[in-house]
Parts: sequence; structure tokens; C-alpha cells
Amino acid sequence: MAVTILKGTIVSAPTLGQVDIVEHGYLVAEDGVITGVFSSLPERYASADVEDWGEALILQSFADLHLHAPQYPMLGTGMDLPLLDWLNTYTFPLEARFADTDYAREVYRALAKELISLGTTRVCMFSSLHTDATLILMEELEKAGVTGYVGKVNMDRNAAPGVLEETTEESISETLRWLEACGDFKYIKPMLTPRFIPSCTDEVMAFLGKLAAERGLPIQSHLSENDKEIEWVRELHPDCTQYWETYAKFGLWNDRTVMAHCVWSDERERAAMRDAGVTVVHCADSNVNVCSGTAPIRTMLNEGLKVALGSDIAGGDHLNMFDVVTSSIRASKIRYMEGGKQTPFLTVPEGWYLATSAGAAFFGETPGFAPGNPLHAIVLADDALPPLPAVSRFERCIYRRQKNAVRAVWSAGRKVYAAE
Ligand code: GUN
Ligand code: FE
Repeated sequence: MAVTILKGTIVSAPTLGQVDIVEHGYLVAEDGVITGVFSSLPERYASADVEDWGEALILQSFADLHLHAPQYPMLGTGMDLPLLDWLNTYTFPLEARFADTDYAREVYRALAKELISLGTTRVCMFSSLHTDATLILMEELEKAGVTGYVGKVNMDRNAAPGVLEETTEESISETLRWLEACGDFKYIKPMLTPRFIPSCTDEVMAFLGKLAAERGLPIQSHLSENDKEIEWVRELHPDCTQYWETYAKFGLWNDRTVMAHCVWSDERERAAMRDAGVTVVHCADSNVNVCSGTAPIRTMLNEGLKVALGSDIAGGDHLNMFDVVTSSIRASKIRYMEGGKQTPFLTVPEGWYLATSAGAAFFGETPGFAPGNPLHAIVLADDALPPLPAVSRFERCIYRRQKNAVRAVWSAGRKVYAAE
């Protein structure tokens, strides 16, 4: 049996708003599965090797539950348009380039490497509509040590004719070809990915709903993100009172469904998410960048919805989930200030929980470094910054990090990154 023992200041988020810190503690895993966090090393591990990280922080690694791999090259650009114009002007032409598998390989290898170096070890990720590039993305993620789900995007209407489009028949047959080829991956699994309602015909939606039911596949898409988008969905589905019903009527609405944004989801739509067990992915950077709004995250949490965080690159301008935590807290403060200070804004421990434990829950993990979880962890150094008590070091490491702060990363029990 392989034993991993990491020694340092162990920080974990066992419940929303709570942070447990064990200074000079031991995080132990057997065959890649956590057995516990201990303040002194249990006798049974006395003869095992200890990786002693001194004063460094040992944190849960991140789960990024919404990002677009083919938008990685435009990260940090295209900030001058709202969602629908942004999609047509910048996003679709870039995604079209992923018909070129050499280009896909180059971009996706760099993305996978950067994700791991930032401590993101679990993802729910959109590819483009291209099957071959999607398989390349899955290969590169798996090789780098990222775990989770990737989706070949379905978009058989309102795309970019002659540039980025698939017919309904292609959308269906390519999805089946893609799923056929996914069997070889161990850590990266397929997720059905209708881009959003304006991109998908009823025929493709019905096909995906049937596939989800038959094969028990998870589903990801966008919901109630932006005013113009919501208006458009209403025109496309006049039979549905609300956006969520356009997914529900095709069988794409259950506890394996992840919906990004949900900025404008009202009480009725939120109740539908809670009752079905849908996970909301809050994408605070993107919600501002493409002029969508600030999502009612505190209200969602109060109402008992499952909420996780997403970088949503490249609508979002930060791949680094430390930054996504701070953006989520800022967005929440804006809602607080502009909403008459009715509901409290997100705290740092809450933001941290959403980026780690809440996202990990979608992959079946128990919050925190709980026994039975696969080992997903980051070693983070802050020894180049002034000394502080541990609880303040935790807060500071989110808002302010020393250069090359991430020293090592474990993903599903494997050490996948060590800084030079
Ligand atoms: N809605 C449909 N496609 C997209 C996308 O690529 N990014 C965002 N933010 N919203 C979308
Ligand atoms: Fe998105």
C-alpha cells in the first residue's frame, strides 16, 4: 500500500463559512485516498515517509465547474461587447479554429499545464463542436493530471454559417462518435453539452435528453445569463414560462445537471433548481465582463441551492481560481451595497468553500479533507511575505500571493505538479 503524508499548515473547508486549520499537521492518504488530518502522526504511519513542507499552507485544490477550453487563446481580450455580440464577434471565429487538430493540441496542452500549475484539479469544461479536438483536449487534460468532465459542444443553429456550424444530423452522429471514443479515458469523462438554447434545435435537445437518460450522462449548459439571451429564449420557446423549462422539457434537468451563470433566475426558477438538485455555477468575472449582471448567490445559498464557482474563461478573465474567489466576494459586495444591504455578502471562508468543497461535491466528494476523498491538494508557500497568524495567512493567500506560490499539487492521489 502506498502512503502519502504531507506535513504543514493544513487548511480545509468542512462546511460553508468554516475553515479548519491544523498547524504543523499531517494530511495522510493511503493509495491516493485520504484517511485523515492529524495534529500528531498516528503510530501506524511511524515508519512511512513524510513530505515536510515546513510552514507552507496545504489546501484543498480547486474545482472549476465552468470554463471554455477553446476560448483560452482570447483570455484577457474582447472586453468591449455584451454577451451575444461577444459570441458572434470574438468567440465563434476563435472556436472555429479548432477544426485544426494541431492548433487544438498546442492550445490544449498549454491550458492543461497551466490549470495544474494553478491548483485546479477538477473541471466541468466546454470544448468546441469539433469531435477530434475534443478528444485531444481530453487526452491533454488526462496527461497533465486534471480530472472531471469535458463536453463536445452541440450547436446546430444560430452559429456562424460557413465558419462554425454543424447540421442537426452531424450534431447527433458526431456526439455518438465522440462518446464511442471516450471509453479510454480514466480521469476525464464525457458530459453532454448543449451550448445554450439559442444554439440547439429541439431535435438535438430531444436526442441529448434521451442520451442522458439512457446512459446516465451528466449535462452542462448556460442558464438565464443575460437579458438579450433570455428574451431570445422566450421567443424560441413560447410554450415555456421560464428558461429552465426549456431544458426540463427535454429531460436535461436533474441532479447531474450543471448550469452556468443563473444571474437572472427568480424565486421560481431557483426553486426548480433546488428541487431537481441542479448545481449552479457562479461565474462572477464573466458576469461583469460581458455585461450580464451580479447573481443572487447569497439568496441561492439561503434557499438551499447547490452553488459552485467557475472561471468561465474567456468571458471570465481569470483562470486562477484564487482570483475567482476574490471576484465572487467582490460581486457579492456589489449586490449587498446596491441591494440596500439586506443580505450579507460572501465571506472569505464562504468563497473558499464554494471554489473547493462545493465544486468537489459534484464529483461525489465529502466537504473538506474528509476521509474517503481522493487526495486533491495544493502546497502553497507564503514565506516571502511578512509573517502573520495562520488564519490571516489563509485570507492573505487568496487576495495576495507570493510569486510561484503553488509549490506542489496532488490530483486524485497523484502528485501532478512540483514547482522548479
Ligand atoms: N452562452 C453561450 N455560449 C457562451 C459562452 O461561450 N460564454 C458565455 N459566457 N456564455 C455563453
Ligand atoms: Fe460559459
